[in-house]
Amino acid sequence: ARVFVLNGVNLGALGTRRPEVYGTLTLGDIERRLRERFPKVGFEFRQTDYEGEMVGFVHEARESDGIVINPGAWTHYSYALHDALEAVEGVPKVEVHLSNVHAREPWRRHSVISPAVEAVVAGMGPYGYEVAVGYVLGRSEARRG
Ligand code: DQA
Repeated sequence: ARVFVLNGVNLGALGTRRPEVYGTLTLGDIERRLRERFPKVGFEFRQTDYEGEMVGFVHEARESDGIVINPGAWTHYSYALHDALEAVEGVPKVEVHLSNVHAREPWRRHSVISPAVEAVVAGMGPYGYEVAVGYVLGRSEARRG
């Protein structure tokens, strides 16, 4: 299976960015853990701080078996990213947040991305990515029947 793991704005700074909220693992550490946990999956890892580039990655994932995306702050206002995800049909999509966005500032409680994905994981830290990948693998198996 081919699974895209997309991380948006500011997530390249994981490890040093507010470790009390986001933990001490870097994005590279999280990606390594995913490869170890799912050795048979062909991962496509992407991170960008540019919204248009992220839209391109979503379109690139059109033929894949799943999209796991942490959009960072775009979560809360990017209709462009919502529309890109909505346009990719028949691919299981999961939104991931390291932190529990519901327990923080009120503006983090709203996601404009969620209507375009099947499932949302929040507050599980790096483990959330593993949960999300496990889910999309199960979904793509189910779709094949
Ligand atoms: C985040 C939560 C967002 O509100 C924030 O802007 C981020 C990271 C998370 O993983 O918890 O950049 O998506």
